[in-house]
Amino acid sequence: MLPSSGRCNGHSQYGGVVGTAVRRLRNVRRRSCSGGDGIRDAERHGGPPPRASRYANDSVQETERAPVTDFDIAYFQSYSHLGIHEEMIKDRVRTDAYRNAIFQYQDSIAGKIVVDVGCGTGILSIFCAQAGAKRVYAIDASDIAVQANEVVKANNLSDIVIVLHGRVEDVEIDEEVDVLISEWMGYMLLYESMLGSIITARNRWLKPGGLILPSNATLYMAPVTHPDRYGESIDFWRNVYGIDMSAMVPLAKQCAFEEPSVEIIPGQNVLAWPHVVKHVDCYTVTMSELGSVTAKFNFKSMIQAPLHGFAFWFDVEFHGPVKFPANNDAQSSVSEISNNGSVDGNLRKKRANPNEALVLSTSPEDPPTHWQQTLLYFYEPVEMEQDQLINGSVTLSQSKENRRFMNIHLEYASGGRSFVKESVMR
Ligand SMILES: C[S@@+](CC[C@H](N)C(=O)[O-])C[C@H]1O[C@@H](n2cnc3c(N)ncnc32)[C@H](O)[C@@H]1O
Repeated sequence: MLPSSGRCNGHSQYGGVVGTAVRRLRNVRRRSCSGGDGIRDAERHGGPPPRASRYANDSVQETERAPVTDFDIAYFQSYSHLGIHEEMIKDRVRTDAYRNAIFQYQDSIAGKIVVDVGCGTGILSIFCAQAGAKRVYAIDASDIAVQANEVVKANNLSDIVIVLHGRVEDVEIDEEVDVLISEWMGYMLLYESMLGSIITARNRWLKPGGLILPSNATLYMAPVTHPDRYGESIDFWRNVYGIDMSAMVPLAKQCAFEEPSVEIIPGQNVLAWPHVVKHVDCYTVTMSELGSVTAKFNFKSMIQAPLHGFAFWFDVEFHGPVKFPANNDAQSSVSEISNNGSVDGNLRKKRANPNEALVLSTSPEDPPTHWQQTLLYFYEPVEMEQDQLINGSVTLSQSKENRRFMNIHLEYASGGRSFVKESVMR
């Protein structure tokens, strides 16, 4: 998200490699059309401390306001640019999923009080108003809130939608709310660290038994082969107009594969069943779960192919509270994942959907979204035989430098060789 982020790899809208691994910042570099200053109800980065938590699981610390850093200011500035919102709204898979969920839960929304955490242009708040909400608090710390307020006025919804220009952590709402809605998911689900603000909003305002949309989220990973990508980025340098430019190969590998790459990976390139890295129940998730997440994996390749790395993607579900048991790995934030049935059956493979809940998926098997998939490439492919095992672990942790960044520690072993890769999604 951060404007200063400099990357060397490619580009594309839902179809190729996206160089900036920061969700939705892509358009910021191309456009300078951003919102203005000032709006009614502005309580920017100030105000009294939040109330105590209503959720038994949460410590007082969980409701304390995170201080505003320069990184946060840059983060919110990035959301003042129109292009980011245009891209999200034009992502019909995403926006239709939210609209469908809102109308599926119309009975729980009509006549009720709603908070939209990070309202952006106000689109989800307006959907909720259309679904009959009595009042919607549309909160955004970015200057896009100025435009959201104008949109609300132009649609004669000012009596229902109240735009609050400030951080969820700072603004005040003097009533409990029935519904909390937010589109908070970053690349690899947790990148951008917005989920903490949903926890804060939940703890501050949501009535016991209230509805959270989406209600849970799951991050998956799977090994992938991608010879075309490797060829285009690396092997290309071996013969350039007949010139041997192999000297470029180390730099090409660094540029192409040092950092996570946001791109579409076709479903047929996935070498094994995906596994769950992290399941988040939005009704019960706590801040302490999010600082660092570790998952162990154990994959078996379905075919003989060069293994080029791992793909990550997520889905979110929209349903009411307490349909799933609380996350068992909440305390340790370590899960074990396998496709050979040997460990932790609760987290194996893709989660079942027994409630037929509405799902927004960013899987390679599903229609593309602006999140695409996130690829962690190896510098060297690993030749895999059919049924060959690859095991290891991945740790995703908030960067201490900037909590919007994500540190990724990957260990993997196969065929008697083991590797470690460190990367930062920035
Ligand atoms: C992914 S956008 C979603 C925008 C809109 N809800 C939509 O669906 O198009 C997230 C928005 O949340 C805002 N945001 C993130 N963290 C926030 C916080 N702690 N307080 C207020 N706004 C926040 C950002 O400024 C951004 O506009």
